[in-house]
Amino acid sequence: MSPTGLRQPRFLQLYHEDRAALREELAGGLLATPARTSPKYLYDPLGSRLFDAITELPEYYPTRTEAALLLMHGAAIAREVPKGATLVDLGAGNCEKAARLFGLLQPARYVAVDISVDYLNNALQCLQRQFPALDMLGVGLDFSSQLTLPPEVGEGPRLLFYPGSSIGNFTPEEALVFLRQVRAAAQGGGLLIGVDLLKPTDVLQAAYDDALGVTAAFNKNLLLHINRVLGSDFAVHDWSHVAFFNAAASRIEMHLQARRELTVRWPGGERRFAQGERIHTENSCKYALADFQTLLAAAGFTRVQAWTDERGWFAMYWAQA
Ligand code: AVJ
Repeated sequence: MSPTGLRQPRFLQLYHEDRAALREELAGGLLATPARTSPKYLYDPLGSRLFDAITELPEYYPTRTEAALLLMHGAAIAREVPKGATLVDLGAGNCEKAARLFGLLQPARYVAVDISVDYLNNALQCLQRQFPALDMLGVGLDFSSQLTLPPEVGEGPRLLFYPGSSIGNFTPEEALVFLRQVRAAAQGGGLLIGVDLLKPTDVLQAAYDDALGVTAAFNKNLLLHINRVLGSDFAVHDWSHVAFFNAAASRIEMHLQARRELTVRWPGGERRFAQGERIHTENSCKYALADFQTLLAAAGFTRVQAWTDERGWFAMYWAQA
């Protein structure tokens, strides 16, 4: 309680940016053949705004399909999920998606996890005013390589919430490792996860190569972010956005392709790119409904339930830990 008598969210910063390590990882990826960068560089402040814009595009179906699914099947989902659990929101951002579920899921505590606690700070302060009785904790944590929740999250079953098909950034092998960590972190609760499904290739490709060019801007903005972190001299106009469905790997791939032969330089290194050579910037894996269910079972979840939209484009899974 604060002096005003109102409950205040608590915050815990566990992520401490190591600039030297980031630069080393970035240079390693740029020097590899083919060159690659982590999708986390897509999300600087401008990148996060561009992603928000993507979710409004007519071609980008995942966000609105998932929202419709939660509205349509919310009551059925709530019947499966334990009441009074600790709701742990993985990659909470503005906390909007989870807040819409408070009424249905009636959590006893809300834990918002994101890499940036600054961003969480604002969102949680606002949310606490709307839900004054709910115990709230913000955790600044990079869970992409290892999910270990701090003891402050508390005892008792946890309901982990991982919406938006962010799981698609992992390969299926990486996803399995991550899902095992999620199951261990749930303490007998479970996982509510949104997953993008396989669908006609033209629909998939349009969602990642929209007519307005917002996704292209989102992809190219990564170069500006990398310039700031690495001190490199990428010129945005030298690069084209490329997005296609790789059927063999069941994923959308995003790349940046050099429009001419060029050399990128940074303190301590450089890389020559031939005309047409690419940097692989993101994978977005798509699953068959039954295949993701199998993955959840392989990760050790016991009961798995899935809900999909009428077109079968997106799925919400409840998996009991
Ligand atoms: C936030 C990873 C779910 O893969 O659809 C959107 C990111 N990339 N357009 C996705 C993204 C290009 C998005 N995820």
